[in-house]
Formats: sequence, structure tokens, C-alpha cells
Amino acid sequence: MNEAAFQQCMNPACGEKCAIEDVRVSCTKCGSLLDIRYDWSRLPRLKSLRYFEHRWSTKGTEAEGRADFSGVWRFRELLPFYRTEEDIVSIGEGRTVLQQADILARQMGMSPRSLLLQYEGLNPSGSFKDNGMTAAFTHARLVGAKRVACASTGNTSASLALFASLSQMQGVVFIGTGKISVGKLSQALDYGALTLQIQGDFDDCLRRVRQIAVDRPEVGIYLMNSVNPFRLEGQKSIMYRILEARDWQPPDWVIVPGGNLGNCSAFAKAFDELRELGLIKKIPRLAVINAAGANTLYNLHKQGVRWENNWYDQTAVQKYYAVLAEQNYHAHTVASAIEIGHPVNLPKALRALSIMNGVVEEVSDEEILEHRAMVARWGFGCEPASAASVAGLRRLLDKKVISPDESVVCILTGHELKDPNVTVKYHTGIDMKAAQDLAPRSTPTGHYVNRPVQVEDNLDAILRAMG
Ligand code: F0G
Repeated sequence: MNEAAFQQCMNPACGEKCAIEDVRVSCTKCGSLLDIRYDWSRLPRLKSLRYFEHRWSTKGTEAEGRADFSGVWRFRELLPFYRTEEDIVSIGEGRTVLQQADILARQMGMSPRSLLLQYEGLNPSGSFKDNGMTAAFTHARLVGAKRVACASTGNTSASLALFASLSQMQGVVFIGTGKISVGKLSQALDYGALTLQIQGDFDDCLRRVRQIAVDRPEVGIYLMNSVNPFRLEGQKSIMYRILEARDWQPPDWVIVPGGNLGNCSAFAKAFDELRELGLIKKIPRLAVINAAGANTLYNLHKQGVRWENNWYDQTAVQKYYAVLAEQNYHAHTVASAIEIGHPVNLPKALRALSIMNGVVEEVSDEEILEHRAMVARWGFGCEPASAASVAGLRRLLDKKVISPDESVVCILTGHELKDPNVTVKYHTGIDMKAAQDLAPRSTPTGHYVNRPVQVEDNLDAILRAMG
């Protein structure tokens, strides 16, 4: 096994380490999240990021060529937890585009060439999640996992289902009833994952799937949510591609929608490591944008919760969640992908804000809808959650936190066709979801029919549904 890579508790006061082959979703000593760490001194030294440019001409069908083709693994020296290229599970993810969006920039009152859109919806399953799944599936295969599962607001389940079917593992996805867009649900079914519609929301689903992964080892679930630190290793590559597209010059700002807060955590880790390796001099600033109806990070940040002296005020966070529970509060936003009240990567996001001198903003559903329509009119389009980044940019321009001539990259996390109901409703006023007669019109008879299973939010019922 690769001796230069290991897992480590993110709490420096604990710092517990374990091997790459261990399957953990948190530190066994203190319960904190885990990071993947590297002893860079034991790995071949990279002199410049330009090293990666030779991969543009070396794609092929053998293991090494397939890795070169992937927009994640062509940077494999920066996520070196695998043993050989043969280990890598790749479906051609990460071949995405950074678009200079001058028309949109003008609409936003920005200077030409200052606004760039990173289209992660161009991944095979239509969202940025494929960047993380390729890394987590590589680890899952390394440890011999047979059954993989996640809770999802839709995109993680679509990505997991696709990777599971292509790597011949059983995929199980937990989704909240009526909570995910029809495009994403159709993907999980089509790719053949066991799709459990749990009566509850994302937070309920994640609690259940974690419970089964940790407390019921006999069920043999490998957890694919972003508490899995290998997911974040893959998502670092979004930043490498942005640097690559800008001739290795970091932008002034990276703006990203915040849901479970895995992406922003991965971005900061990417830059932190590049700085440690002496491969970049400047780290961009980070803006994480919450939907106003799912704004835990925004509220806590506003209250003054920060990454300070290598930790954060856990009591303040617990108090905040206690109030939500007391009020029986559930997150609610048109951007269903980020409808999350209890973001599991909150500590890592606080650390990310510290590394990248970041800010947090919130945007209303109306702002999300308007900016989604603008990205569609003057770009390739995106799903509602992704447009939170552009809506957030507008707010930060208005507040003069960002100036119109700074270079800004907005991460468009998911494809426009993920959530067509929102688009049609925006343009016509027709709510296709409400207008549909949800009772089946006929009994499906195709060879590949894969119906969702409705399950109440109860452990025994879920385990029965999983067989
Ligand atoms: N944008 C889209 C389109 C997403 O699907 C998600 C998360 C996010 C942004 C937020 O990213 O969690 O890293 O802060 N979707 C998850 C899912 C939760 O289940 O598909 P994050």
C-alpha cells in the first residue's frame, strides 16, 4: 500500500491517524471528520503545475491513458492515495469547461473578462459530484466494497448510481419523498440503483444511512456522502482545472453554492496543499452562498462562529441546532440540491473560510431564479442551486465586497436539465409537478424497470427494503 498517504482526524487536538485501507466516516477516537493527508516528502517532487500539460496529448484506453483522459486523474500526483493506475475507477469525469462570460458580466455591471463560469454540469452524470465519486469509488474498490450507499438531494444519488452500475457494485440511494427533481430521480432509476424514498428530508436520510453504515456493519454499506474524505480528494480537481484554464493563475474569487459544504471544503484543501507544495503563491478568496431557506452556515458565520486556534465553537453550533429542533425547523428552498439544514462538513467549511479568507452570503429563492435564468440566457444554463453562486456574486458586488474588475469564478455545480420543472414554471407559471397525475397510468413492463420503493423513516423498515 501507498505509505505516503493516510487518514487523519481534522481536530488537531486529537490528530488520530489511520491507514488508507480503513473504512471510516469519522474519527473513532473523537468523532470528528477525517482528512486524507500526504507525506509529500516521500512522493516525487512537482516543480511546477505546468508538469500536467503533457497529459493533454497522452490519452488512451490503457489504465494510464484512461487516467490522463479524466479531468480528475490527470492531476493524480495531487491525490496520490491509490497504488497504481489500475486501481482507478473512472468514467471520463471532470472534462468540464471554464467559460469567459462577458455578456453576463456586462449584465452584472462587471468588466469584460472578469466573470468566469465553471460548468461542472458537463460531467457524465450532469453534476460536479462525479469528481468526488471517481475518487471514492477508487477507494471503495481498493477496500473491496460491494454495496455503496448515500443520502441525497439528487445529484449524489445520480452520480453514485452511474458509478455503481459501471463498476458492478450495488448502489442504494436514500432520497426524501418528493424532495428531488424529476431529472435526478430518473437518473437513479435508470442507472439501476435501489432507490429508497424515505418519508423525510435530506437531513433525515443522511442520519439513517450513516446509522446503517456505522452501526450495522453486517449490512456492508460503504458510505458515499461527502463525510467520506475520499470524495473531497476528487473534488479538489475542480480548482486544478480552473488554474489550468487560466494558465495557472489563481482568480481573485471562487464562488460556490453551499449545501452539505463538501465542495468548499475540498477547494480550500486544494489551494492549501498547492501552497504547501510551493506551486502557487496566491490563494483566491472564497464566497460560499447559502439559499436563505437553508442558511445554517450563513447564520453561524454571522453570529461570529469562526475557525480560530485550529478549532471552532462547538457549543454555539449545538445551541443553534437545538433551537432549530425546538422550532421543528426544516430547510426549504426552490434550489432543492442545497435544501440542507444540518451540513455535515460545517467544521471543514469554517476551516476553508479561514484558509481562503472567505465570506458567506445568503440569497432568496427569487434571486436564485432570476440568476438561473440569466445564466441560461447568456451561458449554457445551470440548475437552480448552481445559480446561487451568481446570485451571491450580485449581492457581493452590491455590498462592494467584490469589485467589478476582480476576476471571479462562479462554480455552476449542476446541469440545466436536472430540474426542468423549475425552468418551465419560471417561464410559463405552470407547475408541472403539481399538474402531474402521480398515479401510474400503466404497469411498467420493460426489462430494466427499476421502481422506487417508498419507505417510512424507520430503521427496520429501511433494512427490510434493502433486503
Ligand atoms: N449544487 C448542486 C447542484 C448540488 O447538488 C449540491 C449538493 C451543491 C451545490 C452543494 O454542494 O454539498 O458540497 O455544499 N448536493 C448534494 C446531493 C447534497 O445530495 O446531491 P455541497
